[in-house]
Amino acid sequence: MKKHLIAPSLLAADFANLQRDIEMVNRSDADWFHVDIMDGSFAPNISFGMPVVKAMKRHATKPLDVHCMVVQPERYIQQIRDAGADIITVHYEACTHLHRVIQQIKETGAKAGVAINPHTRADVLEPIIEDIDLALVMSVNPGFGGQKFIYGTLEKIRKVKEMIIVRNSPALIEVDGGVGLQNAEKVLKAGADVLVAGSAVFKAEDPTATISKLKALDVNTLSI
Ligand code: DX5
Ligand code: ZN
Repeated sequence: MKKHLIAPSLLAADFANLQRDIEMVNRSDADWFHVDIMDGSFAPNISFGMPVVKAMKRHATKPLDVHCMVVQPERYIQQIRDAGADIITVHYEACTHLHRVIQQIKETGAKAGVAINPHTRADVLEPIIEDIDLALVMSVNPGFGGQKFIYGTLEKIRKVKEMIIVRNSPALIEVDGGVGLQNAEKVLKAGADVLVAGSAVFKAEDPTATISKLKALDVNTLSI
């Protein structure tokens, strides 16, 4: 069984000490940096833009997994790639020509992901499931860290997993929002490959140890 990946979300980092927090993740058992770009329109909040992503890239020694919560993300794909993104994920709900945007991401050399909101059905991923590297299942509504995990998401993760197996897609399933030690086992058991964790990591007393605990979970021996 392939080991799952951990992607701490820098949205919950201390922006005044970004370099320190990035270096902590570099030294930890984490696999990726999750980077949330919000435009104040698709998501009801503004996070940060390209200059900050570029600054993150200067210190990060692990891939930048950029989650683009932006309307018409096709306007920014090349800039996000140039800022240092290794994976670029756009929202199904934000793209009129989703298939074209996926091709656009791949042409930059980045891996391509598609995210779906909590209210969006899993089967919208079906027409493009073979074309993507990552299916991001949102387990909170986009906009803020520290929200409560929506448990109905577990069923959706199972559906996406089934779709990936049936269609022989290479896509990994990433789950984002409200994930922490209290529910990570259930999320993994449902089929997640990548766990995003913002507050669960950065608000923990010992962020490095929390990352290690999330990484050490063994889905084959889980008691649920
Ligand atoms: C929410 C973002 C998430 C957020 C997760 O819109 O996409 O990545 O940072 O934060 P937590 O883990 O605190 O829910
Ligand atoms: Zn995110």
